[in-house]
Amino acid sequence: MTAPRVVLVTGASSGIGEAVAREAASRGDHVVLLARGREALERVAADCDCLGAASTLVTPADVSDDTQVGQAVAEAVGRHGRLDVVVSSAGVVAYGPIAAVPAGVFDQVVSTNLLGAVNLARHVLPVLRDQDDGALVLVGSVIGHIGVPDMAAYVVSKWGVRGLFRQLRVDNRDRPGVRFAYVAPGGVDTPIYRQAATYGDSVGRPPFPVDRPEKIASRVLAVADAPWRGGQVGLSNDVIRFGFNAVPWIYDRLVGPLFSVVAQDLAAPVVRGPGNVLASRQDHNGLRGGQGNALLGIGANLAEVVRRRVGGRG
Ligand SMILES: NC(=O)c1ccc[n+]([C@@H]2O[C@H](COP(=O)([O-])OP(=O)(O)OC[C@H]3O[C@@H](n4cnc5c(N)ncnc54)[C@H](OP(=O)(O)O)[C@@H]3O)[C@@H](O)[C@H]2O)c1
Repeated sequence: MTAPRVVLVTGASSGIGEAVAREAASRGDHVVLLARGREALERVAADCDCLGAASTLVTPADVSDDTQVGQAVAEAVGRHGRLDVVVSSAGVVAYGPIAAVPAGVFDQVVSTNLLGAVNLARHVLPVLRDQDDGALVLVGSVIGHIGVPDMAAYVVSKWGVRGLFRQLRVDNRDRPGVRFAYVAPGGVDTPIYRQAATYGDSVGRPPFPVDRPEKIASRVLAVADAPWRGGQVGLSNDVIRFGFNAVPWIYDRLVGPLFSVVAQDLAAPVVRGPGNVLASRQDHNGLRGGQGNALLGIGANLAEVVRRRVGGRG
């Protein structure tokens, strides 16, 4: 029997972060849940209690606010005296051309996804380094390795997360007991797509093949102990990255049409606005995104493309 570990998760009230919290709870760990919306965190905490968590602690905070992150980490360490696994999963998305996405929305995507991870590292590192033990896992994305149409803020934020991961490893080589890991999912069925800020002409959806958040959560907790198992989740990530790096002239030509069919929902009504980027919309959070079958989604998109072509001719 190992003692329960202290697992702190950002973005714990939805999707991948919620799945991480639930898995940690199932194995009997102490879970510390961080996101902006308190009620959604309370819902996850109640589930974690039922699943067998040693304890739950709800610490509402905005990861883009360094002071709030510092207070949440201090509360967790005050309660438990240590941190064993810290997972940075809080994230938001904005769709649309750079010129169409308001500066405040663009900046907040970067502040949440990238600077939020920096803020977290700033406050948990002294604890992990003092212990010379524990793990910090950053959730990146395959989009942190490539470019895709009309997702500039998300792309630069996730390239930054990947850079941060390597930088943390370089900077902390004097503490061999502290582990740093990086997990880059492809498409995952979570609410993030419906929560996204939208300033373009279509709605996003997870690209095929779509994973369940529980699969990513298992990888996240596995790499916390075995960081060398981190990195890409799914063979399709390797194929896409190969195309981006090895044949950029083909990639750049094909990514637009392919992305619209595979990673967008062309039939869904477009509701323009900031989504959950500037403030929590916790009522829309949940473990799953309810995106349905990805292949059927591609079929519906192809039908929509044909319909628009025929309509355009008529
Ligand atoms: N789903 C995918 O296909 C996919 C693919 C690759 C990578 N990822 C990455 O996986 C991570 C989790 O995404 P997800 O799909 O699980 O998204 P999700 O279901 O929308 O969950 C996002 C979580 O982040 C929290 N959050 C958002 N902004 C925050 C802020 N400023 N401060 C604190 N918490 C904040 C949200 O709660 P509040 O709004 O209440 O704060 C929520 O708990 C993200 O980093 C995302 O980029 C996702």
